[in-house]
Amino acid sequence: MRLKNKTAIITGAAGFIGKTTAEIFRREGANVVLTDRDLDLLQRETKHFADEQTLCLQADVTSVEDTKQVVRSAEEKFGGIDIFFANAGIEGVSNPISDYSLDVHDQVMDINVKGIVIGLQSILPAMRDGGSIIMTSSIAGLIGSPVNISYSASKHAVIGLRRSAAIPAGERAIRVNSIHPGFVDSPMLNRLMEQRGDIDVVREQFVQKTKLGRLIQVEEIAEVVAFLASDASRAITDQAIVVDGGVSQ
Ligand SMILES: NC(=O)c1ccc[n+]([C@@H]2O[C@H](COP(=O)([O-])OP(=O)(O)OC[C@H]3O[C@@H](n4cnc5c(N)ncnc54)[C@H](O)[C@@H]3O)[C@@H](O)[C@H]2O)c1
Repeated sequence: MRLKNKTAIITGAAGFIGKTTAEIFRREGANVVLTDRDLDLLQRETKHFADEQTLCLQADVTSVEDTKQVVRSAEEKFGGIDIFFANAGIEGVSNPISDYSLDVHDQVMDINVKGIVIGLQSILPAMRDGGSIIMTSSIAGLIGSPVNISYSASKHAVIGLRRSAAIPAGERAIRVNSIHPGFVDSPMLNRLMEQRGDIDVVREQFVQKTKLGRLIQVEEIAEVVAFLASDASRAITDQAIVVDGGVSQ
């Protein structure tokens, strides 16, 4: 069990990537503190594996108070924090720059960027030395998008946060990496494809962009996150780990 005696906080844990990663973390022996702004959804989506080593909490990543409470609860129940999977995120809308809503832009930046800053401010100081932080970016954090401009900007910003956080974290042997999923067969991708036209046509266009000729399965993301969380990746920090089946730009 690669994560035995470790405690992990996962944000956006009710979502597709978060809940799958939480299940793998549990299987690998970690205590998991699962947080989401939607507690009902979180409890429903995780009830098939939730046990006494699982704590589900309502928390909005944009709230300093919620995040501090998550830290207090994690320390109280499990005695410390080793892993922080900063994963909560929203996609916003698909619109060209000229029509892009500034309100949506603010929401995307608040959750996808400020949410991680708040997490770093509250969770990093509370982590045990030798821990691991994994931030969910995207391939949209490495390439531009004609219609998901705020999403792309927010996921590029995650790289800046990773680079900056990795410096002080490294002094305590805490590693900070970003994961960049490609086209994951997921509700979020479905929502994005629906906004771009005929979903089957758009899916095929995405598939054609990959060298492996297929979408990525969520377990393929979660397994890499588990590797980054474990001591097997102890020499890896400040890296962008791309899991996209080889997307050609
Ligand atoms: N699905 C994909 O194809 C894909 C690809 C690349 C990157 N990503 C990234 O992976 C992460 C997870 O995506 P997913 O596919 O699981 O999405 P999802 O929509 O299934 O899950 C996101 C979760 O985040 C939660 N959330 C949203 N705003 C929140 C807030 N303010 N505070 C707390 N929780 C909040 C939602 O309630 C939801 O449960 C996101 O950061 C996303 O941008 C996803």
